[in-house]
Parts: sequence; C-alpha cells; structure tokens
Amino acid sequence: MPSYALITGASSGLGLAMAEALARRGRNLILVARRRDALESIACELAQRFGVDVLFRLCDLSEPLRISGLLHELEQGQWRIDLLVNNAGLGCAGAFLEQDWGREQEQLEVNVLALTRLCHAIGQHMAERGGGQILNVASVAAFQPGPWMSSYYASKAYVLHFSEGLREELRQRGVRVCVLCPGPTRSAFFRAAGMNVSRLESSKLMMSAEEVALITVRALEKNRAIIIPGWRNRLLALSSRLAPRWLVRKLSGRLTRPFTQG
Ligand SMILES: NC(=O)c1ccc[n+]([C@@H]2O[C@H](COP(=O)([O-])OP(=O)(O)OC[C@H]3O[C@@H](n4cnc5c(N)ncnc54)[C@H](OP(=O)(O)O)[C@@H]3O)[C@@H](O)[C@H]2O)c1
Repeated sequence: MPSYALITGASSGLGLAMAEALARRGRNLILVARRRDALESIACELAQRFGVDVLFRLCDLSEPLRISGLLHELEQGQWRIDLLVNNAGLGCAGAFLEQDWGREQEQLEVNVLALTRLCHAIGQHMAERGGGQILNVASVAAFQPGPWMSSYYASKAYVLHFSEGLREELRQRGVRVCVLCPGPTRSAFFRAAGMNVSRLESSKLMMSAEEVALITVRALEKNRAIIIPGWRNRLLALSSRLAPRWLVRKLSGRLTRPFTQG
C-alpha cells in the first residue's frame, strides 16, 4: 500500500510550502482544503515537477459532517497516511466582543476541533501499524495570552499543549508527534484575519513560508518536539516563559493591538 503525507490547508501559505518541501523529498501527498482551483493546479504542478502521486480532497474543516465524509473516504481508499500535517487555520483579530460569532466558531472548529479529530482518527491507524508522524501547526502565539486576538492565541496554546501531551502518550505506540510554532510568516493569513498587513510587512520577525517549511521538514526528520523557526522567534518564546505573567499580558497586548487596527 503506497504511503502519503496528508496536509490540511494546502491551498496556500505554509501548507502549500510544506507540500512542495515534502514533494521535493519524494513524498506522495493528499492535499486538503476548500478551494478546488487552487488544489487542482498545485496537485498537478507538484506531481509533474517531482514525479510523486498528489491527490486532493475538498473539505470544509469547520463542518464536522464534512470531516466525517473525508475520514470515511480515507478509510475506503488504499492510502497509508504516514505523516499528518494539521496546518489549516485562521485567526480573528480585534476586540473579542466586536467579533462575529460565526467567524469565532469557525476559528475554533478548524484550529482546535478538526485538528484534534484528525489526530484521533488518523493517529489510531498509525498506532495500530506501530508507526507514523503527526505535525500540528501552532504558533509563537501559543506561548502567551494575546489581547486583541485572545481566542486565536488561546486556540494555539491548546494546539501546543495537546501536541506535547500526545507526543508522550503515543511515543510507546511508535507515533512521533511534533508541533510547529512559527512566528509571523508571509501568507494570506493576516488579510483573512483582518489585520494591518502593511505594518506587519516591515516586522523583522517576518519569514517566508518556504523558509519555515524547509526548517520544518528538517526538524521533522530529527523528530524535534517543538519547532520554532528563526532565532528571534525562539527568543520571543523563551522570554514570554521567563517574564512575569502580568508583564507578558501587558506587552503582548501592546504589541498585538496596532496590527489588529485598520
Ligand atoms: N502566517 C503566519 O504568520 C502564521 C504564524 C503562526 C502560525 N500560523 C498558522 O499556520 C497555519 C497556516 O496559515 P497560513 O499562514 O499559511 O495562512 P493561509 O495562507 O491563510 O492558509 C490557511 C489555509 O487553511 C485553509 N483553511 C482555512 N479555513 C479552512 C476550512 N474551514 N476548511 C479547510 N481548510 C481551511 C485554507 O484553505 P482554503 O481557503 O482553500 O480552504 C488555507 O489553505 C495556520 O494554522 C496558522 O494559524 C500562521
């Protein structure tokens, strides 16, 4: 049975860069997202350039029934998933009480519930086979509270803690769990979150999705528990763990607020 890496949110940004980096290393891929046009052309291009098998499946991960359909199809198919990349995600920026509830719910469904469900379903198959790897995409936002993006930061703290816990649980079943905590990365994320893109572009922390993906695939090969690309981001993560909590709250809010205002 051929083996595949399944990547969610592979139609743009980091997911697309991960798909390319993995295809370059000869991995067959199953790409998951909502946009057919994007997935179709990415699948075609990667298959041609790297001679790997690239499938795609459309799935709105904010809808539990659609995830059931995807999982059912994966069960029926003859594909062994030996790498799951839970990358799909979105952010809500601005004052929490001003947010549209539908968008908040979508964020939590995708960032938290869909990721957890895919780990549960696909992790079970990996554990039965006694091997496999899971990469969950959190963020440097996971290391501190984030006023003006409170629910997004909290969703990423969940991903970080869940992944670390799962890593210990699944170690003895032969499944390796890693978590990626990127800092600001050039992608459609900020515009979709309603953030001030021009202010962010000039940030020294900003990295390209390709750079982050390359660092990540190398770290996956070494089975690193927590992957934080870039020394500035590592320093940021460390300082928010060392500084007093009240100070971290205040500074985080001061840093985040200008980017969340139009
Ligand atoms: N960019 C950053 O600075 C940054 C920093 C830290 C962490 N991250 C995390 O990195 C991950 C990737 O983000 P990105 O920066 O690459 O942003 P992006 O370019 O906006 O990509 C988001 C991806 O998620 C997919 N997606 C969104 N909602 C979905 C849904 N309901 N169902 C299925 N797929 C959905 C999108 O595909 P469709 O629209 O085709 O469905 C797209 O492929 C996210 O988890 C994000 O939180 C990003």
